[in-house]
Amino acid sequence: MLTVGIDIGGTKIAGGVVDASGGLIDPLRVPTPRDPREIEDAVVAMITDLSQRHPSVGAVGIAAAGFIDRDRSVVTYAANIAWRDEPLRARIEPRVGLPVVIENDANAAGWAEYRFGAGSGTRNMIMLTIGTGIGGAVITEGALYRGGHGSAGELGHMRFQRDGLQCGCGQHGCIEQYASGRALQRIAGELADAGGIGSALAAARESEGTLDGRTISGLVSAGDSGAIEALRRISSALGEACGTFQAAFDPELFVIGGGVSQLGEILLAPMREAYATAVPAHGNRPGADFAIARLVNDAGVIGVGDLAREGRH
Ligand code: BGC
Repeated sequence: MLTVGIDIGGTKIAGGVVDASGGLIDPLRVPTPRDPREIEDAVVAMITDLSQRHPSVGAVGIAAAGFIDRDRSVVTYAANIAWRDEPLRARIEPRVGLPVVIENDANAAGWAEYRFGAGSGTRNMIMLTIGTGIGGAVITEGALYRGGHGSAGELGHMRFQRDGLQCGCGQHGCIEQYASGRALQRIAGELADAGGIGSALAAARESEGTLDGRTISGLVSAGDSGAIEALRRISSALGEACGTFQAAFDPELFVIGGGVSQLGEILLAPMREAYATAVPAHGNRPGADFAIARLVNDAGVIGVGDLAREGRH
């Protein structure tokens, strides 16, 4: 059976047909509309188009950036999108005439990396996606850990700093505020304001009017010390958090995804160092390895397509 996978991101909706070996057929991409109803229409149009072209499609998975209920039906809360108790399955399923499951976007990406990407061969793996938010997926003994209410693995909302920065989840001090793509932009902006090593960041902000992730990554690749320092700060924060995740889940591997992960070792090296300072009993226990995601932009679509094949149990 083929499935359709759809990944609703902040800037684009990606979709495609997924086969049983994680192959992606007919990948499609459209910009994400602002209005939730228009998002729904765009998703329905994509599913209809793909399922008409591939009549052996038998199920649909939709990945969304938020807390999902245990039935994999409703987005109960999204920290960075205006979804509150959004009944995505009930809205979309009757319009496409196929069974639909809703999954958290990072769970979908983590599942794809576990099955077909950087995590294949492991049994216990954690995926962290660095984007607007920080997404998490926990694979334990070869299964995706969903928790008692469906929303386990929200690792971006682990408290990192007491009385820390306000987070979109309603709490304060979440790791998402210190290690996400948005945190990278904030820190790069602060370094630009301070001058000194931030002067190339300041110059880029002046000429482009903003400091986005792509510009910061470009400066990192060019060896700019201000941009490298901004990256080191988010990477260390995430590495430290991984020490705590090790205490809770004892994974064999952390897979790091999101656009910034393509910087590779320059991102992973400070992460490993900070992890070593935070993991309990370090040196007296086996630790985890760190790897960069392999499926990157397609992981959400492939993972959610594969999870849809499993059905609704
Ligand atoms: C959300 C998660 C999501 C992550 C990445 C977080 O803020 O709470 O549900 O997986 O961002 O999109």
